[in-house]
Amino acid sequence: MAVEHLVIAGKSGVGKSTTAANLSAALAETGKRVLLVGYDSHWSSTSVLRGGNDLIPLPGWLGEEAPLYALGHAGALCLELGTALKSGAATENDILTHPLIAGYDPEYVLHDTAGEPAGSFKLPAGIEGLSRLLAVTSADMCALQAVNDLFAWFNTIAAAECRFGGVVANNLSGPLYEAIVSDFASQTAAVISATVPRSIMVSVSDFYSQTLLQSAPFSHVSFAYRKLARSLVRGMESRRPRPLSREALSSWAQKWGDIISELETGVVNGGLGI
Ligand SMILES: Nc1ncnc2c1ncn2[C@@H]1O[C@H](COP(=O)(O)OP(=O)(O)OP(=O)(O)O)[C@@H](O)[C@H]1O
Ligand SMILES: [Mg+2]
Repeated sequence: MAVEHLVIAGKSGVGKSTTAANLSAALAETGKRVLLVGYDSHWSSTSVLRGGNDLIPLPGWLGEEAPLYALGHAGALCLELGTALKSGAATENDILTHPLIAGYDPEYVLHDTAGEPAGSFKLPAGIEGLSRLLAVTSADMCALQAVNDLFAWFNTIAAAECRFGGVVANNLSGPLYEAIVSDFASQTAAVISATVPRSIMVSVSDFYSQTLLQSAPFSHVSFAYRKLARSLVRGMESRRPRPLSREALSSWAQKWGDIISELETGVVNGGLGI
């Protein structure tokens, strides 16, 4: 079966690793062969998926900084690239064609990208086959700005072979925040593929070193990841989003600034009270 690459992107701290690990678990629990690749120099992308399992160097690696791997929840394979790529010790392609990885023959490779995507986003090199980008965001303006930059990247030649897997609206504290992301998505014609509430269970699962699907299998959040996994397996529609221009984004932000401040202060534009 052909491999599908799922690239998880977004501003730092929005929940990319949380999304990547729980989506990996949801796919693996349905019997898919899943490889989660972490690019974080602290090897933290896979920590909840591999639970207590130690990372060990890929066997037979000749370079100095071997990528590390471990078996994770529901048979998912975890791979941490650490600094191997930055130091030029390896390319993604060397790693994905390594006998241990090729022998596992993943159906889904999830790439938990690290760092800021703004302006300079690049797909991990060496991706061959179908790739789909999931844009993770909270309702914060800087996270949405980063998503708008990702949407602009979709109009470049570098994105020609990449499909859009939708927005993962994460860490939302209630209806107001859902309305902000949903309005941004409708302005940019973007599909929201998952809505994940802010949940203390995410911190609990971090403390337990488990995915949410293990520590809180019947929680709302776990169901959101299972639903996302199902829609990806079905091969969701991938209409391309349309980024807002700088001016349109700035007036959109102004509009939401006004709405939030009116709700907070009870004073609407023009000095009227509500
Ligand atoms: N839905 C949520 N509810 C509550 N906390 C969350 C949620 N999603 C993520 N978090 C918390 O937010 C923090 C950042 O999440 P995470 O590490 O997944 O972000 P990231 O985008 O991978 O960050 P980085 O860019 O640094 O790699 C973590 O402490 C995580 O537990
Ligand atoms: Mg991360």
